[in-house]
Amino acid sequence: MNTASPRRLGVNIDHVATLRQARRERYPDPVAAALLAELAGADQITCHLRGDRRHIQDEDLPRLRDSVQTLLNVELACTEEMVGIARRTLGARPGDRRRHRVTLVAERPGEVTTEGGLDVAGQLDLVGATVAGLAEQGIAVSLFIDPEPAQIAAAAGLSAVGVDMIELNTARYAEGHDAELARLAQAAALAGRSGLELAAGHGLTHHNLPPLVQAAPGILEYNIGHSIIARAVFCGLEVAVRDLLQMIRAPGGPGAPGGPSRLA
Ligand code: PXP
Repeated sequence: MNTASPRRLGVNIDHVATLRQARRERYPDPVAAALLAELAGADQITCHLRGDRRHIQDEDLPRLRDSVQTLLNVELACTEEMVGIARRTLGARPGDRRRHRVTLVAERPGEVTTEGGLDVAGQLDLVGATVAGLAEQGIAVSLFIDPEPAQIAAAAGLSAVGVDMIELNTARYAEGHDAELARLAQAAALAGRSGLELAAGHGLTHHNLPPLVQAAPGILEYNIGHSIIARAVFCGLEVAVRDLLQMIRAPGGPGAPGGPSRLA
């Protein structure tokens, strides 16, 4: 981990698996991508086990868990099936002092990608019980929510059962909605006062990341996938990861507005 900046980059390797599943082949292997991302400086490897298994497969999880050198952050829906898999795969293990993480997300059958944050405020009992079950296995838990005060307050209220982080949904910002940068900055300030660690993700790219890092310095972790893997096709994974790391650790660096030109 870089000591000059407290910010971390979680590299989501789902779309390496998307390419593999397109042909039901054994390659490209998301585990290989995870190791290369870590060699390029990633602080964490993130993946999303979806109900339809369109990219990451169940058997990828233990392989990733045993291979990554950093931490594994698995995004999944708040269902009995998914939580059972997480409890069996990511729980504390003898000889491994790492605490892997689950990020609970909303999932709608048929969606192309995650469409919104988890409604924590509207289903407090279900989310609370799920968090408690994961925490019991020694799994750290984050909640992926929209940048709304009611959701942040509800998530903070679950810190007693094991929530120690929230991830703000940046999808609307990434879609170009003007007011979203200010909304995210306000939500980040509010979350900072809640005592929870703060992450952000969805739709972030080397174009839209620098303004967010500057506007919301309290965001300590970014989980970024699609744009990294897409850019890696042209620039290589190492370049794609390193450029984003530089942006989150030194927001005025390459890729920032006014900084040196971007590769792609
Ligand atoms: N964070 C969460 C909670 C997600 O569900 C996803 C998508 O799996 C991401 C981050 C990464 O989004 P993207 O692939 O658009 O960078």
